Amino acid sequence: MTGTGKTLRLGVAGLGTVGGGLLKLIERQEELRIPGKLEVVAVSARNKTRNRGVDISKFRWADDPMELALAPDIDVIVELIGGSDGPAKRTVEAALRSGKAVVTANKALIAEHGIEIASLAEKHNVHLLFEAAVAGAIPIVRAVKNSLSGVIVSRVSGILNGTCNYILSEMLRTGAAYETVLQEAQRLGYAESDPYLDVSGMDAAHKVLILASIAFGAQPNFDQVQVEGVDKIDAMDITLANKFDYRIKLVAEAFRAKEGVRCRVAPVLVQKEHPLAQVNGPLNAVVVEGEPVGRLTFTGPGAGSGPTAAAVMGDLARLFEGPATPPLGKPARELAALITAVDSAADQGSFFIGAKLADKPGMFAALTEELAEAGVSIDKLIQESAGDTGAAPVAILTHPCPRASAERAMAKIAELKITADTPRLMRIETRA
Ligand SMILES: NC(=O)c1ccc[n+]([C@@H]2O[C@H](COP(=O)([O-])OP(=O)(O)OC[C@H]3O[C@@H](n4cnc5c(N)ncnc54)[C@H](OP(=O)(O)O)[C@@H]3O)[C@@H](O)[C@H]2O)c1
Repeated sequence: MTGTGKTLRLGVAGLGTVGGGLLKLIERQEELRIPGKLEVVAVSARNKTRNRGVDISKFRWADDPMELALAPDIDVIVELIGGSDGPAKRTVEAALRSGKAVVTANKALIAEHGIEIASLAEKHNVHLLFEAAVAGAIPIVRAVKNSLSGVIVSRVSGILNGTCNYILSEMLRTGAAYETVLQEAQRLGYAESDPYLDVSGMDAAHKVLILASIAFGAQPNFDQVQVEGVDKIDAMDITLANKFDYRIKLVAEAFRAKEGVRCRVAPVLVQKEHPLAQVNGPLNAVVVEGEPVGRLTFTGPGAGSGPTAAAVMGDLARLFEGPATPPLGKPARELAALITAVDSAADQGSFFIGAKLADKPGMFAALTEELAEAGVSIDKLIQESAGDTGAAPVAILTHPCPRASAERAMAKIAELKITADTPRLMRIETRA
């Protein structure tokens, strides 16, 4: 057990959304089921005078979070600064080196430096726990690492970014454009003022890579994750996909392929009855599939001050339970499976093509001709009136074909300037 007797002495680095939420929850620890006592000894953030909604004057203040990592009267560092490098990484490394347990919500750090940091924790025989890094309040890291260690996992997939899911859900509900819905998400606090990590798919990619590493015993290798975000999706794509009885979701998935473990994030069409199609607004969902259990689905709030702080709390409670185990499930040196980026052009499947056709004679014929030329046959098609917009929305579902063929047709269509916008190509998930 880490800590002295039944009390763990904490240093909390980062007092923002999650750090502030954690301090509030620690104040209510009597109401929780923690098998010991948590005592905050010191805190660190950039601005000492900022109102955190909780009295921090009773804690020692450190301008530099490294002071917490090196302090002899602290047992556990709770790293809630964020970022794959910089102060977060330095603090975590220093804490592990000085034999302190680390609890963090930092998915970028674990996804991009997982092996290094996990090895350090193993070398010093200390806990490194990061439940809050993936899917907020959903206890998926612990579930995959411990509860499901008896399952041969074939696929982990999910909606791992609440911001993107809120945007896609609202675009469907209101028919509003991406930019309008993004601004509303920022106003409501569902999206950061700089939404890049979320809307580009990077945040979901960090999370699915962490799950892949644990579920498949693979070294996290972020360079090999294929990432596409939601920022190119047109509201008409969502509306027309809905008419075909599909929802567009940003799906993060990891599965075994011939070449290794494949990890990708992309907007995908899922049938309305699919478990992921039912997950709306800022919620997250994770589906774990494997033998001999079949499919397990977990749903819940994937972010926010309270839900994320609750996940951090769960990790703190774990520290009372016993000695450290390898952070990524297996010891870092035994993570033998490889995350491999497979050329997605080699994929085979059915695809959705969304575009706005220039409102001129012959454009539709030119589009279908290019598809036929590339060997892509149309299963279903909707064309809406251009009205007074000068461009007619069109949505096509293809029969199964190589993605390379669909990409070839798209390139040709772009070249011929048949459309008023850049056409979108999205995979259709055919599994119910
Ligand atoms: N927000 C969520 O819903 C959520 C969900 C899951 C995981 N996470 C993860 O949790 C972590 C924290 O996220 P957050 O949303 O709480 O971020 P945040 O609100 O931006 O808070 C970051 C905190 O770190 C402090 N900080 C920044 N640079 C620092 C430095 N050099 N030294 C000391 N403190 C420094 C900031 O200080 P000031 O306050 O003084 O500026 C702030 O208190 C990130 O890894 C994030 O990915 C967040």
